[in-house]
Amino acid sequence: MIKNLAIVMCITMVNSITLNLNEICYCSQLIQEWDCNDSLQGCIWDSKSQVCQEIPCSELSLPKFCQMQPQRCYWNQNIGCLNFTDCSSLKGSSQSSCIEQNIYCPASNGTNCQSINYLQTCSSITTPDNCNNYFSATGLCMWNGKNCIQATSCQQLWSNSTPSCDFRGCYLNNETQQCLPKICSQIQSELQCYGILTFGPYLNNVIGCFWNYQLNGSSGCQEFSPQLVMYANCDDSSLGTYHWNSNKEQGQCVPCFQKLLFLSIVITILF
Ligand SMILES: *[C@@H]1O[C@H](CO)[C@@H](O)[C@H](O)[C@H]1NC(C)=O
Ligand SMILES: *[C@@H]1O[C@H](CO)[C@@H](O)[C@H](O)[C@H]1NC(C)=O
Ligand SMILES: *[C@@H]1O[C@H](CO)[C@@H](O)[C@H](O)[C@H]1NC(C)=O
Ligand SMILES: *[C@@H]1O[C@H](CO)[C@@H](O)[C@H](O)[C@H]1NC(C)=O
Ligand SMILES: *[C@@H]1O[C@H](CO)[C@@H](O)[C@H](O)[C@H]1NC(C)=O
Repeated sequence: MIKNLAIVMCITMVNSITLNLNEICYCSQLIQEWDCNDSLQGCIWDSKSQVCQEIPCSELSLPKFCQMQPQRCYWNQNIGCLNFTDCSSLKGSSQSSCIEQNIYCPASNGTNCQSINYLQTCSSITTPDNCNNYFSATGLCMWNGKNCIQATSCQQLWSNSTPSCDFRGCYLNNETQQCLPKICSQIQSELQCYGILTFGPYLNNVIGCFWNYQLNGSSGCQEFSPQLVMYANCDDSSLGTYHWNSNKEQGQCVPCFQKLLFLSIVITILF
Protein backbone atom coordinates (compact mmCIF):
# COMPACT_ATOMS: atom_id res chain seq x y z
CA MET A 1 0.00 0.00 0.00
CA ILE A 2 2.65 2.46 1.06
CA LYS A 3 4.81 1.30 -1.79
CA ASN A 4 1.95 1.85 -4.26
CA LEU A 5 1.43 5.29 -2.87
CA ALA A 6 5.11 6.00 -3.24
CA ILE A 7 5.02 4.86 -6.85
CA VAL A 8 2.03 7.05 -7.58
CA MET A 9 3.76 10.01 -5.92
CA CYS A 10 6.93 9.50 -7.88
CA ILE A 11 5.05 9.14 -11.15
CA THR A 12 3.20 12.35 -10.41
CA MET A 13 6.43 14.11 -9.57
CA VAL A 14 8.22 12.85 -12.63
CA ASN A 15 5.25 13.37 -14.92
CA SER A 16 5.09 17.14 -15.02
CA ILE A 17 8.33 18.99 -14.73
CA THR A 18 7.80 22.52 -13.62
CA LEU A 19 10.56 24.61 -15.08
CA ASN A 20 12.39 27.02 -12.85
CA LEU A 21 13.14 30.27 -14.65
CA ASN A 22 15.50 31.26 -11.86
CA GLU A 23 17.76 28.64 -13.41
CA ILE A 24 18.13 29.71 -17.02
CA CYS A 25 21.39 28.38 -18.46
CA TYR A 26 24.27 30.76 -18.99
CA CYS A 27 25.62 30.80 -22.51
CA SER A 28 28.85 29.33 -21.21
CA GLN A 29 26.93 26.23 -20.09
CA LEU A 30 25.89 25.44 -23.66
CA ILE A 31 28.82 23.31 -24.67
CA GLN A 32 27.63 22.20 -28.12
CA GLU A 33 27.99 24.58 -31.03
CA TRP A 34 24.47 24.01 -32.41
CA ASP A 35 22.90 24.10 -28.95
CA CYS A 36 24.59 27.46 -28.43
CA ASN A 37 23.61 28.97 -31.78
CA ASP A 38 20.03 27.71 -31.62
CA SER A 39 19.44 28.62 -27.99
CA LEU A 40 16.66 30.87 -26.82
CA GLN A 41 19.09 32.83 -24.69
CA GLY A 42 20.81 34.89 -27.34
CA CYS A 43 24.13 33.08 -27.42
CA ILE A 44 26.63 32.67 -30.21
CA TRP A 45 29.45 30.21 -30.74
CA ASP A 46 32.90 31.69 -30.92
CA SER A 47 34.79 29.45 -33.31
CA LYS A 48 38.21 30.67 -32.17
CA SER A 49 37.81 29.97 -28.48
CA GLN A 50 35.26 27.16 -29.00
CA VAL A 51 33.10 28.70 -26.32
CA CYS A 52 29.49 29.79 -26.31
CA GLN A 53 29.26 33.53 -25.75
CA GLU A 54 26.58 36.05 -24.95
CA ILE A 55 25.28 38.23 -27.75
CA PRO A 56 25.26 41.87 -26.54
CA CYS A 57 21.78 42.86 -25.32
CA SER A 58 21.64 45.68 -27.86
CA GLU A 59 21.77 43.11 -30.67
CA LEU A 60 18.85 41.04 -29.37
CA SER A 61 16.18 42.65 -31.48
CA LEU A 62 13.27 40.37 -30.64
CA PRO A 63 11.63 40.73 -27.22
CA LYS A 64 11.51 36.95 -26.68
CA PHE A 65 15.30 36.63 -26.90
CA CYS A 66 15.86 39.68 -24.75
CA GLN A 67 13.38 38.55 -22.13
CA MET A 68 15.11 35.18 -21.90
CA GLN A 69 18.22 36.91 -20.59
CA PRO A 70 16.85 38.49 -17.42
CA GLN A 71 20.19 38.16 -15.63
CA ARG A 72 21.79 40.68 -17.98
CA CYS A 73 19.22 42.33 -20.30
CA TYR A 74 15.82 44.01 -20.17
CA TRP A 75 13.29 44.92 -22.81
CA ASN A 76 12.34 48.54 -23.32
CA GLN A 77 9.34 48.90 -25.62
CA ASN A 78 10.59 52.11 -27.19
CA ILE A 79 14.30 51.47 -27.41
CA GLY A 80 14.72 47.70 -27.56
CA CYS A 81 17.00 45.43 -25.57
CA LEU A 82 19.30 47.12 -23.07
CA ASN A 83 21.83 46.11 -20.43
CA PHE A 84 20.16 45.28 -17.14
CA THR A 85 21.60 46.51 -13.91
CA ASP A 86 18.87 46.59 -11.30
CA CYS A 87 15.09 46.55 -11.09
CA SER A 88 14.73 49.99 -9.52
CA SER A 89 16.19 51.66 -12.62
CA LEU A 90 13.25 50.37 -14.72
CA LYS A 91 10.14 52.54 -14.93
CA GLY A 92 6.93 50.66 -14.40
CA SER A 93 3.76 51.21 -12.43
CA SER A 94 2.19 47.76 -12.69
CA GLN A 95 3.29 44.19 -12.26
CA SER A 96 2.68 43.37 -15.92
CA SER A 97 4.63 46.34 -17.25
CA CYS A 98 7.56 45.39 -15.03
CA ILE A 99 7.49 41.66 -15.90
CA GLU A 100 7.43 42.55 -19.58
CA GLN A 101 10.72 44.38 -19.14
CA ASN A 102 12.41 41.81 -16.95
CA ILE A 103 10.85 38.73 -15.37
CA TYR A 104 13.15 39.11 -12.36
CA CYS A 105 11.50 42.48 -11.59
CA PRO A 106 7.84 41.58 -11.00
CA ALA A 107 7.03 44.20 -8.35
CA SER A 108 6.49 47.94 -8.57
CA ASN A 109 6.49 50.73 -6.00
CA GLY A 110 4.14 52.76 -8.21
CA THR A 111 6.78 54.36 -10.38
CA ASN A 112 9.72 51.95 -10.58
CA CYS A 113 10.06 48.20 -10.80
CA GLN A 114 11.32 46.09 -7.92
CA SER A 115 12.74 42.63 -7.41
CA ILE A 116 10.82 39.54 -6.43
CA ASN A 117 11.55 40.28 -2.75
CA TYR A 118 9.09 43.16 -2.92
CA LEU A 119 6.13 41.13 -4.13
CA GLN A 120 3.08 41.41 -1.92
CA THR A 121 1.58 38.33 -0.32
CA CYS A 122 -1.94 37.52 -1.47
CA SER A 123 -3.32 37.95 2.04
CA SER A 124 -1.98 41.50 2.31
CA ILE A 125 -3.99 42.66 -0.72
CA THR A 126 -7.33 44.22 0.13
CA THR A 127 -9.12 44.92 -3.15
CA PRO A 128 -10.36 42.51 -5.85
CA ASP A 129 -8.78 44.54 -8.64
CA ASN A 130 -5.33 44.44 -7.09
CA CYS A 131 -5.75 40.80 -6.12
CA ASN A 132 -7.02 38.99 -9.20
CA ASN A 133 -4.22 37.86 -11.54
CA TYR A 134 -1.49 39.18 -9.24
CA PHE A 135 1.55 36.93 -8.89
CA SER A 136 2.79 36.71 -5.34
CA ALA A 137 6.12 35.01 -4.74
CA THR A 138 4.29 31.83 -3.78
CA GLY A 139 1.72 31.85 -6.58
CA LEU A 140 -1.26 33.43 -8.28
CA CYS A 141 -3.73 35.40 -6.17
CA MET A 142 -7.53 35.43 -6.48
CA TRP A 143 -10.34 37.25 -4.73
CA ASN A 144 -12.76 34.85 -3.10
CA GLY A 145 -15.45 37.41 -2.41
CA LYS A 146 -14.04 38.50 0.95
CA ASN A 147 -10.29 38.06 0.91
CA CYS A 148 -7.36 37.74 -1.38
CA ILE A 149 -6.12 34.16 -1.31
CA GLN A 150 -3.67 32.06 -3.24
CA ALA A 151 -5.27 30.12 -6.09
CA THR A 152 -4.30 26.50 -6.50
CA SER A 153 -6.35 25.22 -9.43
CA CYS A 154 -8.43 26.21 -12.45
CA GLN A 155 -11.47 24.60 -10.83
CA GLN A 156 -11.00 26.88 -7.84
CA LEU A 157 -10.93 30.00 -10.02
CA TRP A 158 -14.21 28.89 -11.52
CA SER A 159 -15.95 27.78 -8.34
CA ASN A 160 -15.33 31.19 -6.82
CA SER A 161 -18.18 33.57 -5.97
CA THR A 162 -17.13 35.56 -9.02
CA PRO A 163 -16.21 32.72 -11.38
CA SER A 164 -13.34 33.45 -13.70
CA CYS A 165 -11.21 31.36 -15.97
CA ASP A 166 -9.06 34.31 -16.86
CA PHE A 167 -5.63 32.78 -16.34
CA ARG A 168 -3.33 31.76 -19.14
CA GLY A 169 -2.86 28.34 -17.59
CA CYS A 170 -6.55 27.49 -17.76
CA TYR A 171 -9.25 27.30 -20.41
CA LEU A 172 -13.01 27.24 -20.25
CA ASN A 173 -14.53 24.13 -21.73
CA ASN A 174 -17.67 25.62 -23.16
CA GLU A 175 -19.47 22.30 -23.43
CA THR A 176 -19.05 21.17 -19.84
CA GLN A 177 -18.74 24.74 -18.48
CA GLN A 178 -15.65 23.83 -16.49
CA CYS A 179 -12.44 25.74 -16.08
CA LEU A 180 -9.65 23.24 -16.71
CA PRO A 181 -5.86 23.29 -16.85
CA LYS A 182 -4.41 23.79 -20.31
CA ILE A 183 -2.28 20.97 -21.59
CA CYS A 184 0.38 21.00 -24.29
CA SER A 185 -1.46 18.56 -26.55
CA GLN A 186 -4.31 21.07 -27.00
CA ILE A 187 -1.97 23.49 -28.70
CA GLN A 188 -2.46 23.19 -32.43
CA SER A 189 0.33 25.31 -33.82
CA GLU A 190 4.06 24.87 -33.55
CA LEU A 191 4.57 28.57 -32.91
CA GLN A 192 2.32 28.51 -29.85
CA CYS A 193 3.86 25.32 -28.53
CA TYR A 194 6.35 26.57 -25.93
CA GLY A 195 4.95 26.52 -22.46
CA ILE A 196 1.96 26.73 -20.16
CA LEU A 197 1.60 28.54 -16.87
CA THR A 198 0.65 26.60 -13.76
CA PHE A 199 -0.06 27.51 -10.14
CA GLY A 200 3.43 27.14 -8.71
CA PRO A 201 5.57 29.86 -7.12
CA TYR A 202 6.41 32.81 -9.38
CA LEU A 203 9.09 31.78 -11.94
CA ASN A 204 8.68 28.17 -10.94
CA ASN A 205 5.30 27.93 -12.63
CA VAL A 206 5.83 26.92 -16.23
CA ILE A 207 5.43 23.57 -17.91
CA GLY A 208 7.42 23.35 -21.12
CA CYS A 209 5.95 22.12 -24.39
CA PHE A 210 7.69 21.01 -27.55
CA TRP A 211 6.62 20.21 -31.07
CA ASN A 212 7.12 16.51 -31.63
CA TYR A 213 7.44 15.62 -35.30
CA GLN A 214 7.40 11.93 -34.54
CA LEU A 215 4.21 11.83 -32.59
CA ASN A 216 2.50 8.71 -33.82
CA GLY A 217 3.08 9.29 -37.49
CA SER A 218 1.94 12.89 -37.39
CA SER A 219 3.19 15.76 -35.31
CA GLY A 220 1.91 17.65 -32.34
CA CYS A 221 2.58 19.62 -29.23
CA GLN A 222 3.72 17.56 -26.26
CA GLU A 223 4.78 18.26 -22.70
CA PHE A 224 8.50 18.78 -22.09
CA SER A 225 10.26 15.81 -20.64
CA PRO A 226 14.05 15.50 -20.79
CA GLN A 227 13.71 11.87 -21.90
CA LEU A 228 11.45 12.72 -24.83
CA VAL A 229 12.99 15.83 -26.32
CA MET A 230 15.70 15.62 -28.92
CA TYR A 231 18.88 17.68 -29.08
CA ALA A 232 17.19 20.27 -31.29
CA ASN A 233 14.48 21.18 -28.81
CA CYS A 234 16.07 20.54 -25.41
CA ASP A 235 16.99 24.16 -24.77
CA ASP A 236 13.94 25.79 -26.37
CA SER A 237 11.26 23.61 -24.88
CA SER A 238 12.76 23.88 -21.40
CA LEU A 239 12.72 27.67 -21.81
CA GLY A 240 16.48 27.69 -21.60
CA THR A 241 16.78 25.76 -18.33
CA TYR A 242 18.14 22.49 -19.80
CA HIS A 243 20.97 21.87 -22.22
CA TRP A 244 22.32 19.00 -24.30
CA ASN A 245 25.33 17.52 -22.55
CA SER A 246 27.22 15.77 -25.34
CA ASN A 247 27.17 15.26 -29.09
CA LYS A 248 23.86 14.89 -30.88
CA GLU A 249 23.49 11.12 -30.72
CA GLN A 250 25.05 10.34 -27.37
CA GLY A 251 23.90 13.30 -25.38
CA GLN A 252 21.05 13.84 -22.98
CA CYS A 253 18.91 16.79 -22.08
CA VAL A 254 19.93 17.79 -18.55
CA PRO A 255 19.21 20.78 -16.31
CA CYS A 256 21.95 23.42 -16.21
CA PHE A 257 21.55 23.64 -12.47
CA GLN A 258 21.33 20.14 -11.06
CA LYS A 259 18.22 19.77 -9.01
CA LEU A 260 17.20 16.21 -9.71
CA LEU A 261 19.45 15.03 -6.91
CA PHE A 262 16.64 15.42 -4.42
CA LEU A 263 14.31 13.34 -6.57
CA SER A 264 16.84 10.56 -7.01
CA ILE A 265 17.50 10.48 -3.26
CA VAL A 266 13.76 10.17 -2.66
CA ILE A 267 13.53 7.35 -5.17
CA THR A 268 16.54 5.60 -3.65
CA ILE A 269 15.04 5.82 -0.19
CA LEU A 270 11.65 4.58 -1.28
CA PHE A 271 12.78 1.59 -3.30
C1 LIG B 1 27.24 29.15 -35.13
O1 LIG B 1 27.41 30.56 -35.29
C2 LIG B 1 28.71 30.93 -35.75
C3 LIG B 1 28.81 32.45 -35.74
O2 LIG B 1 27.77 33.03 -36.50
C4 LIG B 1 28.93 30.35 -37.14
O3 LIG B 1 30.23 30.69 -37.60
C5 LIG B 1 28.78 28.83 -37.08
O4 LIG B 1 28.86 28.29 -38.39
C6 LIG B 1 27.44 28.45 -36.47
N1 LIG B 1 27.43 27.01 -36.28
C7 LIG B 1 26.35 26.27 -36.47
C8 LIG B 1 26.50 24.81 -36.22
O5 LIG B 1 25.26 26.74 -36.82
C1 LIG C 1 26.49 46.37 -22.03
O1 LIG C 1 27.19 45.29 -21.43
C2 LIG C 1 28.26 44.80 -22.24
C3 LIG C 1 28.81 43.54 -21.57
O2 LIG C 1 29.03 43.74 -20.21
C4 LIG C 1 29.30 45.89 -22.44
O3 LIG C 1 30.35 45.41 -23.23
C5 LIG C 1 28.61 47.08 -23.10
O4 LIG C 1 29.52 48.15 -23.22
C6 LIG C 1 27.40 47.54 -22.31
N1 LIG C 1 26.69 48.55 -23.07
C7 LIG C 1 26.33 49.70 -22.53
C8 LIG C 1 25.58 50.64 -23.45
O5 LIG C 1 26.54 49.99 -21.37
C1 LIG D 1 10.22 54.03 -6.14
O1 LIG D 1 11.56 53.64 -6.31
C2 LIG D 1 12.37 54.62 -6.94
C3 LIG D 1 13.74 54.01 -7.19
O2 LIG D 1 14.24 53.38 -6.05
C4 LIG D 1 12.42 55.87 -6.07
O3 LIG D 1 13.24 56.86 -6.67
C5 LIG D 1 11.00 56.40 -5.91
O4 LIG D 1 10.99 57.50 -5.05
C6 LIG D 1 10.10 55.30 -5.34
N1 LIG D 1 8.73 55.77 -5.40
C7 LIG D 1 7.89 55.66 -4.38
C8 LIG D 1 6.49 56.16 -4.61
O5 LIG D 1 8.22 55.15 -3.33
C1 LIG E 1 -17.11 26.61 -27.99
O1 LIG E 1 -15.75 26.78 -28.38
C2 LIG E 1 -15.50 26.53 -29.74
C3 LIG E 1 -14.01 26.59 -29.98
O2 LIG E 1 -13.41 27.58 -29.22
C4 LIG E 1 -16.29 27.53 -30.58
O3 LIG E 1 -16.04 27.29 -31.95
C5 LIG E 1 -17.77 27.40 -30.27
O4 LIG E 1 -18.48 28.39 -30.98
C6 LIG E 1 -18.02 27.53 -28.78
N1 LIG E 1 -19.42 27.25 -28.48
C7 LIG E 1 -20.15 28.02 -27.70
C8 LIG E 1 -21.53 27.55 -27.43
O5 LIG E 1 -19.72 29.05 -27.21
C1 LIG F 1 -1.39 5.97 -32.78
O1 LIG F 1 -2.60 6.31 -33.44
C2 LIG F 1 -3.47 5.19 -33.62
C3 LIG F 1 -4.67 5.65 -34.46
O2 LIG F 1 -4.88 7.03 -34.34
C4 LIG F 1 -3.90 4.67 -32.25
O3 LIG F 1 -4.74 3.56 -32.40
C5 LIG F 1 -2.64 4.25 -31.48
O4 LIG F 1 -3.00 3.85 -30.17
C6 LIG F 1 -1.66 5.40 -31.40
N1 LIG F 1 -0.42 4.96 -30.77
C7 LIG F 1 0.21 5.65 -29.84
C8 LIG F 1 1.48 5.08 -29.32
O5 LIG F 1 -0.22 6.71 -29.41
